[in-house]
Amino acid sequence: MLKYLKAALLTATIAAVATPALAGDPEEGAKVFRKCAACHSIGEGAKSRVGPELNELLGRTAGTVDGFKYSAAMVAAGEGGMVWDEQTLTHFLVKPKDLVKGTKMAFAGLRKSTDVANVIAYLKTFSEGAAEAPAEGEAAASGGTEVAMAEKPAAAADAPLPDHEGVFGLGRLATDDEVAAWDMDVRPDGLGLPVGKGTVADGEVLFTENCAVCHGDFGEGVGRWPVLAGGQDTLTDDRPVKTIGSYWPYLSTVYDYVRRAMPFGNARSLSNDDVYAITAYLLYLNDIVTDEDFELSNENFTDIHLPNEANFKEDDRAQEPQYAEKKEPCMKDCKPGPVEITMTARVLDVTPDSDEENTGGGID
Ligand code: HEC
Ligand code: HEC
Repeated sequence: MLKYLKAALLTATIAAVATPALAGDPEEGAKVFRKCAACHSIGEGAKSRVGPELNELLGRTAGTVDGFKYSAAMVAAGEGGMVWDEQTLTHFLVKPKDLVKGTKMAFAGLRKSTDVANVIAYLKTFSEGAAEAPAEGEAAASGGTEVAMAEKPAAAADAPLPDHEGVFGLGRLATDDEVAAWDMDVRPDGLGLPVGKGTVADGEVLFTENCAVCHGDFGEGVGRWPVLAGGQDTLTDDRPVKTIGSYWPYLSTVYDYVRRAMPFGNARSLSNDDVYAITAYLLYLNDIVTDEDFELSNENFTDIHLPNEANFKEDDRAQEPQYAEKKEPCMKDCKPGPVEITMTARVLDVTPDSDEENTGGGID
């Protein structure tokens, strides 16, 4: 670390000579890097976490840290020849999604040009290549670069910082990109479905590659991993086989769950179209569709109903006396009155081994 810092100061000095206006301060940059540290580590023993480790970044081809799962966009950028240098980093750190459309780096960008210059200076201290003989040639070669650098962030620096300190001065507002990344739930009525489509046949390929190791080629489940197909007509047995096909009421939950949580250990690595294709294949494995050419899309999604949907009923607990008569818990300005509970959830309405009229919970 100390070694790095010394190298840093040396670089900073040389950089100051080469490009006086833009010399970043690595020590200030270390503070800026706290924003990055939520996802990136750097320095001795740094490992990739949410983001790739950032040692030896300067001069590195984008998207090439071994074992880190980049977005397709980042890999493509690297394959297209993009190398991390002052210019590319400046652009990326100001507007990540502008330089690499489709990057999965959920970071809105740095707003102040000094922060950008400083954090790059800091990153350089962990790039031996950049520290050694830095860059006589590089500095000269990147003359045009420096101009571009000076222009962009300078404009950003003039923009006022948003006022989101809040009452306690803690935290910050989630960025639009972060909200968009989190706001991905899909409702039974189709609200939240992304535009997209995929066929059973495509889904079979994707399922075999990404899911079959755990769930079996036909969703039969390997070892103790969950079974994803079959079990229809077993729900009233003593030991019902509850699968997404036999038990789950809504297809939206399947789509949402797979998109959000699968493949286990590599969640959110599939595109929306991939998830449509896999969901179509899961329907096929459960005999809910039978045509291999069937294409599931946001258009026809809500036409599909899972076999057990009708056995779920509206949760009407709010109408039952013990709920209906409950008063609002008395806080400030207490105005007693009936509670208004709006419940849209549905509960399973199957009582095992019983033809009698169901009482709701299955506990009889
Ligand atoms: C919310 C998490 C997060 C934050 C905060 C974040 N990054 Fe990233 N970063 C990522 C992810 C994820 C990737 C991989 C992007 C991809 O594959 O498209 C990445 C990629 C990168 C890359 C490309 C590395 C390579 O090997 O190609 C650089 C450079 C980078 N980040 C720098 C920074 C810096 C500097 C900051 C702070 C100013 C920062 N990041 C903040 C998550 C983050
Ligand atoms: C490494 C093993 C593994 C892989 C690969 C995997 N899953 Fe899973 N899957 C699991 C585990 C474990 C659970 C149960 C998780 C839990 O209950 O929290 C699960 C649960 C599920 C469920 C819910 C099942 C239920 O009845 O509750 C679905 C649907 C599912 N996976 C689909 C997929 C799909 C589609 C893929 C491929 C894109 C996939 N999984 C890849 C391990 C895996």
